[in-house]
Amino acid sequence: MLAAVRTFAILGVEAREVLVEADVRNGLPSFALVGLPDAAVRESRERVRAALANSGFEFPQMRITANLAPADLRKAGPGFDLAIAAAVLAATKQLPEGALADVALAGELALDGSIRAVPGTLAMAEAASRAGARAIVVPAACGPEAALVAGCGIVPVERLEQLQRLGGEDEPPRPPALSPPPNGDGPVPDLADLRGQPALRRGLEVAAAGGHSLLVSGPPGAGKSMAARRLPSILPPLGPDEAIAAARVASACGRSVGPAVARRRPFRAPHHTVSTAGLIGGGNPPRPGEVTLAHQGVLFLDELPEFGRDTLEALRQPLEDGTVLLVRARYAIELPCRFQLIAAANPCPCGTGPRSGQCSCDPASVRAYEAKLTGALADRIDISMAVEQPDLSSFTEAGESSAAIRDRVLAARERQRARSRGDRANAQLTPAEIEIGAEIERMLADAGLAAGLSGRGRGRVIRLARTVADLDQAEAIEVAHVDEALTLRRRESR
Ligand SMILES: Nc1ncnc2c1ncn2[C@@H]1O[C@H](COP(=O)(O)OP(=O)(O)OP(=O)(O)O)[C@@H](O)[C@H]1O
Ligand SMILES: [Mg+2]
Ligand SMILES: [Zn+2]
Repeated sequence: MLAAVRTFAILGVEAREVLVEADVRNGLPSFALVGLPDAAVRESRERVRAALANSGFEFPQMRITANLAPADLRKAGPGFDLAIAAAVLAATKQLPEGALADVALAGELALDGSIRAVPGTLAMAEAASRAGARAIVVPAACGPEAALVAGCGIVPVERLEQLQRLGGEDEPPRPPALSPPPNGDGPVPDLADLRGQPALRRGLEVAAAGGHSLLVSGPPGAGKSMAARRLPSILPPLGPDEAIAAARVASACGRSVGPAVARRRPFRAPHHTVSTAGLIGGGNPPRPGEVTLAHQGVLFLDELPEFGRDTLEALRQPLEDGTVLLVRARYAIELPCRFQLIAAANPCPCGTGPRSGQCSCDPASVRAYEAKLTGALADRIDISMAVEQPDLSSFTEAGESSAAIRDRVLAARERQRARSRGDRANAQLTPAEIEIGAEIERMLADAGLAAGLSGRGRGRVIRLARTVADLDQAEAIEVAHVDEALTLRRRESR
């Protein structure tokens, strides 16, 4: 007796189809599982055995072979349980005729027959729709997230015995649409908390308005980390496609899709001890790293010089391409990682900064530190600013609220959208795509002579000037805009 059931494996953030075949025949009772299963998948046999018995089904005292195809794809995790159980049930005729026709299944079994959540059901539902399945059976807890995108039916199940209702009139109904969590899963801190620091505020506003990367250096306790963590509060909300992309990543990583549904941009701040694989993604099977979790949002590297050199070096290609390609012997996976880089650092090893008068570092070590500061990422950072301690007299008054700043950011983005007729922010444009007048051209040439502006630096100034002009609601880039852009890209005091 033979049956085959469709399920999915998650590779990176994408779902790959896997066929579970079960062959049940007379012979010494045994249960073999083949097709490159990892330890968790092999243990599936014990869960299936107990779950069947505890759900009023019969576990056949026969020779059972379950095969997961394609055999060269490594199968990891407990998410194949439900499909394996369904294949055994179908092969032993314990489900109504046609119950499994054109359906895919994914879920982990508990010993008592209840079904536990598995990561990646959003991508699985998309893949099931693409493959023309009638429906996909998912753990009840994953129903709403799977239903975000699917063109096919979604059948949420809580217990194994509910498989008997598949295809019948009392099939569990499609779950209701996922409503955004009130507050988007917790409050976002507000920039009103940041006192003084006008230059830093302006830098954040420009970064948010054009999607520019930003490096802030300054003495300890000046408010750098505090400011960076408040960037999400002034960023534009995720667009519909961006929200799905962010939700797909969250789902595949077993995280809540709530913030993405609430259109909130991800904000990731990995500690500087993070490994290269932890940051970029890696392992076997490959798992997404922090850059992918930051997809469509912000990657904040606090204490930038403390990160490993190789780790920072590995960031270059993902920053450039917006994807990470992980190549394994048998396959390659591509992980999305379009993120905005924000970094913070102290100006020198002792932290006080060479200009403070209290710096105890020798000039050579300051230079080495500065080289490391930007080193690998120098060409990728648009705005590079130095801040000093806040003026303590400014602490009596709250700063401008995030809501007010965000209004200006949104207006500036709107101008960019209208001009580029797409969703690209200024930071993603090439300099050739930005119009500049003859006067500005001359100004940049002079700046090149005076300040040693490189060809790449010129492009960066043009992009930044465009964003400053957009914040100014100006049609053309003017001299004042370029002036500010030149200041923003240089690491200068105030
Ligand atoms: N400009 C500011 N406005 C309001 N509070 C501030 C400001 N600067 C610092 N603080 C207070 O000091 C604390 C430390 O600030 P923060 O962690 O942002 O400093 P930092 O610049 O990142 O320092 P470090 O270089 O040591 O990381 C903040 O949590 C806040 O309470
Ligand atoms: Mg800090
Ligand atoms: Zn120092």
